[in-house]
Amino acid sequence: MKEFRTLRYEPGKLTLLDQTKLPREETYVDLTTVEAVARAIETMVVRGAPAIGITAAFGIALAQRTGVPLAEADARLRRTRPTAVNLFYALDRMARAAAKNADLDAEAQAIYDEDVAASKKIGEYGAALIPDGASVLTHCNAGALATAELGTALSVIRAAHAAGKKLRVYADETRPMLQGARLTAWELMRDGIDVTLIPDVALGHLLYEQAIDLAIVGADRIATNGDVANKIGTRSVACLLYTHGRPFYVAAPWSTIDRTIATGRQIPIEERAAEEVTTLGGVRIAPDGVRVRNPAFDVTPAAWIAGIITERGCTGKDLARGLTEQASNTDESAR
Ligand code: MRU
Repeated sequence: MKEFRTLRYEPGKLTLLDQTKLPREETYVDLTTVEAVARAIETMVVRGAPAIGITAAFGIALAQRTGVPLAEADARLRRTRPTAVNLFYALDRMARAAAKNADLDAEAQAIYDEDVAASKKIGEYGAALIPDGASVLTHCNAGALATAELGTALSVIRAAHAAGKKLRVYADETRPMLQGARLTAWELMRDGIDVTLIPDVALGHLLYEQAIDLAIVGADRIATNGDVANKIGTRSVACLLYTHGRPFYVAAPWSTIDRTIATGRQIPIEERAAEEVTTLGGVRIAPDGVRVRNPAFDVTPAAWIAGIITERGCTGKDLARGLTEQASNTDESAR
């Protein structure tokens, strides 16, 4: 089976796997300008918090090569998607590197390489939480398609599978953009991991049948108290797991933790176009003129989360304390 690469860079050219076309077509697009990079993030050719941050970092490297003022490139990229803090983490790092006249290709590549290492560690720490024989629900796509490689929630699943644990993964479809149906199912099937696709609305019934032991998802931004913003629908998943007495875990690199905010209330939630809700596969499914709300993320309260797994370890149920402990093991390069 041919390996896929979510993103790869050679000086002057960023190549992205076009995620809007998956799973029907596996096509790659070459980008050479910061404007093309910004549009690819907005239209979700590339998506997933860590992948968005890494892509933006390469966008800054491309801006420098094409003579676009870096402040202008930075401002353009900051306007693409507001929720994933990894975007701002990567742009802040690139701005610091530019201020020191550092090599911007090398700095962006370092952000990429650190994400690969973080995903690997998250898998190692998280696998211990997955019992042999478990049925695991995941929401949206927190896989290799959302990061440089491996993923966050899917890195945990991959590591547990590689350790010989027998798992059944349930991927919910994740309306309205269907990242679960289109991307997570595709990624796991390519790896030969047992995956079953369910409609979002079936989760309550599966819990009633006791078919699900735990859930693990990614994150777009995590507040100091452990509140987590992730793909719309995550809050409903967490609430259902919590009320059925099943653990709900979050896996994310340290670049997803926003230590500047106290709670999830301070997280900006992206609202996207109405057409994502009123059409399905390009076909209109709702009456013309209907009023639509399309928030792309929601916030899950820390109280419903059993633990957060980062490359620095797993928190216990007291997420705020666990994150503070992890913050103090900082090697400065990580933040
Ligand atoms: O709108 P998307 O597809 O960018 O949203 C992605 C998610 O919500 C993921 O769960 C999150 O970014 C974590 S990815 C490791």
